[in-house]
Amino acid sequence: MQQHDLYSYEPAKGHGLPHDPLNSMVGPRPIGWISSRGRDGSVNLAPYSFFNLFNYRPPIVGFCSTSAKDSLRNAQETGVFVWNLATRDLAEQMNATSAPLPYGTNEFEVAGLTPLPGTHVDVPRVAESPVHFECRVTDIHRLRRHDGNPVDSWLVMGEAVVIHISRPLLVDGIFDTFGAGIILRGGGPSAYAAITPDSRFDLDRPGAKR
Ligand SMILES: Cc1cc2nc3c(=O)[nH]c(=O)nc-3n(C[C@H](O)[C@H](O)[C@H](O)COP(=O)(O)O)c2cc1C
Repeated sequence: MQQHDLYSYEPAKGHGLPHDPLNSMVGPRPIGWISSRGRDGSVNLAPYSFFNLFNYRPPIVGFCSTSAKDSLRNAQETGVFVWNLATRDLAEQMNATSAPLPYGTNEFEVAGLTPLPGTHVDVPRVAESPVHFECRVTDIHRLRRHDGNPVDSWLVMGEAVVIHISRPLLVDGIFDTFGAGIILRGGGPSAYAAITPDSRFDLDRPGAKR
């Protein structure tokens, strides 16, 4: 076996590289485009690439706020949020919703997006996005170091209580992952990846029946 020539570093002491490689290696990552509402009724929309799906039944998604941000505050205040799928045609608008704006600023208006009322939670969805998960918060977990010391990052988990899918993306009843225009966050300041049909390959799981 060929041995890799390894560059090793302890993150607590710094990476020693021109750019932090961390999110370039664990990636590209799905984008949690999270809409939420505060106790005062204000609406918020922002992207989170520390985001993923963690369970099938019930469906549970989570995003991580790497400091105390508005989406976290709203999830704490009202216990609900919506995940909107970010697609290539919405990439620039998704990016615009990441601007650091004062609490209460409605990023739907900033980015020129259409709010569509939730059916099960009182949070607007991005009408232009083809998939929405309306979620009720299940856990808000403050992250900590291995020695137990807390860090200023919070993982917000929520159960999708209703899921909406644009019908044309159901091809013979199967969600068209490779035709939906899904975008993912790469590393560095600006890199993204777009899922296209030619990026697909298939593997059957050992022992799995088709
Ligand atoms: C693609 C993308 C992914 C992002 N991922 C995260 C993330 O995982 N966690 C985080 O705290 N901020 C993330 N940000 C930055 C937030 O979107 C930004 O701080 C935003 O202003 C937070 O909005 P809010 O305070 O309205 O919730 C990301 C930005 C972009 C463009």
